Amino acid sequence: MQVYFDNAATTPMDPRVIQVITETMEQEFGNPSSIHAHGRQGKTIVEKARKMVAALLKASPSEIFFTSGGTEADNMAIVRSITDLEITHAITSPIEHHAVLHTLEDQQKRGLIKLSYVKIDKEGNIDLQHLRELLKDNPRSLVSLMHANNELGTLTDIKSVSAICSEFDAVFHSDTVQTMAHYKHDLSELNIDFITGAAHKFHGPKGIGFLYINGRNKINPFIYGGAQERNMRGGTENVYGIVGLAKALEIAYQDMDTHQTYIQSLKDYMKERLTDTIADVQFNGNQTPANSLYTILNVSLPCTEIADMLLFSLDIAGISASGGSACSSGSEIGSHVLQAINPNTDRPSVRFSFSKLNTKDEIDFVISKLAEICNKHNSK
Ligand SMILES: Cc1ncc(COP(=O)(O)O)c(C=O)c1O
Repeated sequence: MQVYFDNAATTPMDPRVIQVITETMEQEFGNPSSIHAHGRQGKTIVEKARKMVAALLKASPSEIFFTSGGTEADNMAIVRSITDLEITHAITSPIEHHAVLHTLEDQQKRGLIKLSYVKIDKEGNIDLQHLRELLKDNPRSLVSLMHANNELGTLTDIKSVSAICSEFDAVFHSDTVQTMAHYKHDLSELNIDFITGAAHKFHGPKGIGFLYINGRNKINPFIYGGAQERNMRGGTENVYGIVGLAKALEIAYQDMDTHQTYIQSLKDYMKERLTDTIADVQFNGNQTPANSLYTILNVSLPCTEIADMLLFSLDIAGISASGGSACSSGSEIGSHVLQAINPNTDRPSVRFSFSKLNTKDEIDFVISKLAEICNKHNSK
């Protein structure tokens, strides 16, 4: 048996998304910037997709900018708001994705901003009181706080953060890559400046994402070139990716409640089975369902002797899971998120992340293999 529990890293594409992309590839090849009929058809496809995305998020199509993915969207929001919205101070958390942290650190190194880190607790919850204190000293900051942490699943109450930001006239960017298509973002209600999405996290294609820029923010292009994306991102559009992204988001919105209930039941089942099977198993991140992304379960295991070998052993057993963020997998560096919440542990952690395609049988398989690997080496 071969099972995939790394859906926070990427998801398999939905066959309906593949179909729409394939059809478009077969039928359309025009460059959307060309003014002739072929070009106009390409342009129509891109604009139809933009309208679909905007309608689902309750935004205006003029606020949606297609990018190469979540990383580019985060970079664009941060770099451009710092230069164009007169930001000299930014606030973030130590557990943001590297697309945010490394970008902000670079801006700090260049002397463009001062950077403050808001306090978090052992579950990765943001200390909102501390955020308020930081903003009191530095109003009109850029606040960059992700909606759900990609390793722990801990959710941040972005409505409350948004209210605090409004009070201090701060610019609020949230990396919503892990929650896009898992919750319904209503941008007509949520007062936020920038959010981001990446299609491959919700059964769409890789290499395509988007940045929502609230219409009140006037920023310059991040990539200079042609007039694509209303002058905001030069480069011929990834037409097939854009079509796939819109279709994937549409599918996700159609059955979101059913999938949420189903995936939450998988997560609950796995927690229950792990607790029953492995002595002293623990869970990282906020464990209250309302404050935890239903697609992620981060498990801390007692088998310290085989910490370095755990993911490898799971892989050999036919289980694809992750030790932290997939983006740093394969590197020697451990997870900065786990380091920030619990620096003094030698217990290994595994992130299991679910999709609508997983089953309880697959979870049973994981439990049996994990118990074999772990209990054999459990020092207790
Ligand atoms: C929270 C978060 N932000 C950003 C990214 C980067 O997205 P992309 O791979 O589309 O560049 C990821 C991907 O792992 C992520 O989990």
